[in-house]
Amino acid sequence: MRAAIALGRLAALSAVSATASANRNDNGTDHAAKQLLQESMNWMDMYYDTEAGYLYNLDSKALLHDTRSSAWYSAGLLARNEGDDVEQASKIVENIIAGQHRNVSSQWYGDYQIYPEEPTVGTPQYPPVIYNSWDPNWRGFVGTTFILMLEEFPDLIPHDTQLRILESLHNATVGDSYRVGGVDSDNLYPSYSNPAIMRAFMSGWVGRRLNDSNMTTAGEAYAKDIVTLFDRADTLSEFNSGTYAGVSLYALTLWAKYLPQSSLMGQHGSIMIEKTWEKLGQLYNANLKNVAGPWDRSYGYDMNRYLSILALQIWTLVGKVEAPINAKPYTMGHKNDFAIGPLVAILAPFHNTLVPNNTLSALHTFPGTHTVSTSAFSPPWDTYPRNITAWISQNLTIGAESFSEKVIGGPAKNPSSFNPAVVQWSRKDGSVGWLTLYAQVEELQAVAGDSTLELEYPKGNKSSTFTFLVGTNSKTGKRDVASWSDVEGVQIGVNGTVDPMYSVAFAGYVGGAGETINDFEFWNFTYGMPVGSGETPRVKLSFNLQ
Ligand SMILES: *[C@@H]1O[C@H](CO)[C@@H](O)[C@H](O)[C@H]1NC(C)=O
Ligand SMILES: *[C@@H]1O[C@H](CO)[C@@H](O)[C@H](O)[C@H]1NC(C)=O
Ligand SMILES: *[C@@H]1O[C@H](CO)[C@@H](O)[C@H](O)[C@H]1NC(C)=O
Ligand SMILES: *[C@@H]1O[C@H](CO)[C@@H](O)[C@H](O)[C@H]1NC(C)=O
Ligand SMILES: *[C@@H]1O[C@H](CO)[C@@H](O)[C@H](O)[C@H]1NC(C)=O
Ligand SMILES: *[C@@H]1O[C@H](CO)[C@@H](O)[C@H](O)[C@H]1NC(C)=O
Ligand SMILES: *[C@@H]1O[C@H](CO)[C@@H](O)[C@H](O)[C@H]1NC(C)=O
Ligand SMILES: *[C@@H]1O[C@H](CO)[C@@H](O)[C@H](O)[C@H]1NC(C)=O
Ligand SMILES: *[C@@H]1O[C@H](CO)[C@@H](O)[C@H](O)[C@H]1NC(C)=O
Ligand SMILES: *[C@@H]1O[C@H](CO)[C@@H](O)[C@H](O)[C@H]1NC(C)=O
Ligand SMILES: *[C@@H]1O[C@H](CO)[C@@H](O)[C@H](O)[C@H]1NC(C)=O
Repeated sequence: MRAAIALGRLAALSAVSATASANRNDNGTDHAAKQLLQESMNWMDMYYDTEAGYLYNLDSKALLHDTRSSAWYSAGLLARNEGDDVEQASKIVENIIAGQHRNVSSQWYGDYQIYPEEPTVGTPQYPPVIYNSWDPNWRGFVGTTFILMLEEFPDLIPHDTQLRILESLHNATVGDSYRVGGVDSDNLYPSYSNPAIMRAFMSGWVGRRLNDSNMTTAGEAYAKDIVTLFDRADTLSEFNSGTYAGVSLYALTLWAKYLPQSSLMGQHGSIMIEKTWEKLGQLYNANLKNVAGPWDRSYGYDMNRYLSILALQIWTLVGKVEAPINAKPYTMGHKNDFAIGPLVAILAPFHNTLVPNNTLSALHTFPGTHTVSTSAFSPPWDTYPRNITAWISQNLTIGAESFSEKVIGGPAKNPSSFNPAVVQWSRKDGSVGWLTLYAQVEELQAVAGDSTLELEYPKGNKSSTFTFLVGTNSKTGKRDVASWSDVEGVQIGVNGTVDPMYSVAFAGYVGGAGETINDFEFWNFTYGMPVGSGETPRVKLSFNLQ
């Protein structure tokens, strides 16, 4: 293991951006960002295979390696710049570029391998399966990391490596231009916020750098669609998500920091970051250390127990202790995202100056009971914008969205990550209880009110069911749950057109009736309709803290 040492380079960076933005950039922020860099790098050091010049797979897949986390690690090596860090960084970058897909006619042209040991994508034995044997978003994840490295550490990268990076970026940008939502199983629309923002940025940046005006123009045109969608209600289409709001904020920071004012992205990046944080701040509850629902795409139900990229950003803003992050981040659900820590840390001194003061204050201290009302729009999936309501009180938060979509499970068609109605509460031991509606319909009317959650399936019928996933009790609470009265910390009342008899099942780590979702165990409360009912399926939950 490398020793944990002071991070001179990052300190120098902070100083630069502090003068550049002449804004709040307090010592606390710098200290926290350094700590994030240090801790995420110390963790990744354990996975680094010096001989291969790649990180081992973070899930320990029998000594296989991993491309994307290696790229993130290499940026961290430049930021840390100790011992032979710089040399290793170039070695990793050269390896990643050597493995880049080169067939101009293939849909995955210019994309980066998932892992260096993989068979050739597109052979009969290894068919191209989007988001499996190749991941179109990795052009953006790896490509933007390369750009960040060129921007922040040009003097640490040998000239010939820089040229290869530019060639690699050119190919990745051309390949990314093959992506058209709805064609060839691709789903990149401007409403798929996180990769869309990365795409526009790469095209704009690489076009300018290589004097390829087509590329520059394409990036600006895509950015215009993203900005127009955003300006409708000052919200990202991929509205609220511990993981992907974090990626979108990362990518918007690249817009704001690395593109000139002559670019739409340079003009709009900062304000979009500010507006995004404004909503996040309103939805955040510092007592629970969670952003209230609804969550368009979430990889967990309690930010204290799964690692979200947003939590890493919050770490740099309020410090690790106050952030929704475990003392040992690599023990949390979805822990592999800790590998993006270096990028968040490197950008923090700039990004953090754009976080509104109200938000910063809300990240520290809950400001008092309030409601949030807004909307988000994801064409072509949404028939109408999704209407979002949230009621946020000291120890209980309720957030929900109404929608009418063409698919079940949100634009990603994934009921495991689409959480349109969510309730969280704090329990006596300080842990967080949660309840989420499992997504089963294309249309939902959902309204969060004072201690209530109202749900309706406008197109439902007598075979509809409402399934609520409910988190397990605290360590000292009841292990067994057979009814609502066994759920710790809150009394839950249910009323509606549903059959009042409900079933309760357990989805556990090694047993029960079903599988865990996103590593979370849960109790499954399911309501059906009375036999022969002709009523619209409707249910109203009310909550009283115990
Ligand atoms: C600034 O941060 C350093 C650690 O990087 C710490 O030693 C110092 O006390 C901090 N100063 C203030 C004024 O917070
Ligand atoms: C390149 O990709 C095209 C389209 O998938 C394919 O027909 C062709 O055989 C590939 N060429 C090589 C050299 O693999
Ligand atoms: C970029 O793509 C071209 C084909 O257009 C290929 O010849 C070249 O090797 C690629 N470069 C890299 C760095 O992958
Ligand atoms: C792009 O144009 C600028 C200004 O004309 C020039 O300095 C630079 O070398 C060019 N870059 C490339 C990659 O052609
Ligand atoms: C730019 O686009 C125009 C029109 O589509 C095309 O004719 C031209 O070859 C392109 N230039 C480059 C450098 O790709
Ligand atoms: C926060 O408040 C300070 C002091 O009033 C002010 O200088 C700064 O511009 C504000 N920052 C933001 C992002 O609003
Ligand atoms: C919220 O929880 C805290 C800690 O248990 C407690 O001190 C406080 O009274 C609670 N507030 C309300 C409104 O229930
Ligand atoms: C959201 O509210 C607007 C205005 O009340 C309404 O026109 C729209 O249909 C609503 N959207 C959904 C999905 O219910
Ligand atoms: C009830 O709705 C489901 C799901 O939309 C549908 O498959 C089923 O045919 C409907 N049943 C009746 C009796 O309309
Ligand atoms: C629902 O609430 C209404 C009004 O409070 C009440 O009349 C009705 O009996 C309740 N229904 C159920 C199923 O509890
Ligand atoms: C919840 O329980 C119901 C009824 O047993 C079952 O049909 C459904 O598949 C379960 N859902 C999940 C997400 O486990």
